[in-house]
Amino acid sequence: MKTGLIGAMHEEILALKEEMDNIKETKVGSREFFEGTIGGHEVVMCLSGWGKVAAASTSSSLVNLFDVDQFVFIGLAGSLNQDLDVGDIIIADKLIQHDVDLSLLNGFDHVKSPFYKEFVFNVEKELVRYAENACKEFVDNLCKGKYPQISDQYKPQIYIGTIGTGDQFVASADGKNKITGKFPDILCTEMEGASIAQVAADYQIPCTVIRIISDKADENAHSSFADFLFSNISQISVELAKLILNPEYE
Ligand code: ADE
Repeated sequence: MKTGLIGAMHEEILALKEEMDNIKETKVGSREFFEGTIGGHEVVMCLSGWGKVAAASTSSSLVNLFDVDQFVFIGLAGSLNQDLDVGDIIIADKLIQHDVDLSLLNGFDHVKSPFYKEFVFNVEKELVRYAENACKEFVDNLCKGKYPQISDQYKPQIYIGTIGTGDQFVASADGKNKITGKFPDILCTEMEGASIAQVAADYQIPCTVIRIISDKADENAHSSFADFLFSNISQISVELAKLILNPEYE
């Protein structure tokens, strides 16, 4: 199994280079792809950049040029649910592109890939369970003090549910309400996950999306996002990715 590991920002992904063996770097267009192994598991890592187009372009390259068999995305998200706190971990069992609206288009009821009537992508139960085990082990390790580089104040909860994706950084009550009014079950919002899930559906390969809450998508989102980004996310994503790639879970 060769895994395409994608992150939207340097801080979310590039620290993983330190964990990779036998790195080979290939530039394709404006992106650098890093092939190698992490704990003996074949990976191709790439920084996508922000947004759905960037994520879809990156994941298409990973399948077509690097032959990956699955996608794993780890990154940050804004919470749309009052139960979620900054630092909590969300595993997607469903991904929705909340900014797509085809409701006024009639008469296209029987669409097949590459067309979609609804931009909703379910994640296989087995894959969700696998990601949950990796996240639980991460939290167990945290509690046992195995990650001295991560603050011992960090005690995240793990949630499984719907992640929403749209091409906007949400930072207002109004912005949140627009999304939750239409999709009440969305737990958090981000800018890439469901577009990677669409590419995965096109090629019929698995896709795991794990998000860590960096902000509450409200008026304080910018500063909360920046604080979280620079203080924690690199170490958290490195440790989560190592566990997700652990052959024990395959
Ligand atoms: N990623 C992290 N926080 C976000 C937010 N508030 N909106 C969209 N994407 C995000």
